[in-house]
Amino acid sequence: MAPVVLITGASRGIGAATAVKAAYAGYDVCINYLNSADSATAVASKIEALGRRALTVQADTAKEDDIIRLFETVDRDLGRLDALVNNAGITGTGCLIEDLSGSDLKRVLMTNLAGPFMCAREAVSRMAFKHGGSGGAIVNMSSAAAKLGSPFEFIHYAASKGGIESLTVGLAKEVAAEGIRVNAVRPGMINTEIHASAGMPDRCERIAPTVPMKRVGTPEEVADTVLFLLSEKSSYVTGTIVDVSGGR
Ligand SMILES: NC(=O)c1ccc[n+]([C@@H]2O[C@H](COP(=O)([O-])OP(=O)(O)OC[C@H]3O[C@@H](n4cnc5c(N)ncnc54)[C@H](OP(=O)(O)O)[C@@H]3O)[C@@H](O)[C@H]2O)c1
Repeated sequence: MAPVVLITGASRGIGAATAVKAAYAGYDVCINYLNSADSATAVASKIEALGRRALTVQADTAKEDDIIRLFETVDRDLGRLDALVNNAGITGTGCLIEDLSGSDLKRVLMTNLAGPFMCAREAVSRMAFKHGGSGGAIVNMSSAAAKLGSPFEFIHYAASKGGIESLTVGLAKEVAAEGIRVNAVRPGMINTEIHASAGMPDRCERIAPTVPMKRVGTPEEVADTVLFLLSEKSSYVTGTIVDVSGGR
């Protein structure tokens, strides 16, 4: 039976690229999304064309009930879970801290930090040896913002990504003897719709000259690193955060 990976936020951007590359690598894939049902279906079609099973599940990964339903759907329809990519994320609204609304702060922290915690909980409860699982791998999506702090626009986003790095380091140690590796990828500026969603459609063009490699990255370049961290090629790698940032 093919290994199964659940990728949150896989209808677009980095998650979608990771889903297709996972199918190339031999995984059956659960494509989670929030609103973009048509895009999720298009990703599923690409996966099925490669001869792999694809399951699309609408679920808000900022909500515990939705997360539980998401994992139970994978149990029922794909029958096992070998890997989790905690990818879904939002920037929130760019602003100075004195203009930050409580609701925006809460939404960013729930989506980018609490959601991945609860998804990791569900994955560990299925994959850990002590729970009858066969082990597995978790990859969390951080951001260069965790190091840079994103002053004047996205400190709340940066802090959520700092939190996911702590989750990665701590959980890697907690579940290492349970056959589960936990790592994170820390992308720099990647060309996806996340910037337009944040009201900054020209962000990539603006930042590209400041990147040491003088360009932004592609979703596929991030996905390649995620697939490496999921694979046996990284069998002795855990608790690590890999920069994919063109030197930024
Ligand atoms: N792009 C960058 O420059 C960059 C840099 C560093 C880190 N990252 C991180 O990489 C990850 C992916 O970013 P991206 O650029 O690919 O973003 P994107 O193109 O905006 O795609 C975001 C994906 O997440 C899903 N999503 C958002 N909120 C969700 C929720 N509450 N529940 C379920 N799914 C949700 C979206 O679903 P719908 O399509 O249904 O809305 C979509 O599939 C994020 O964690 C982001 O912080 C991105």
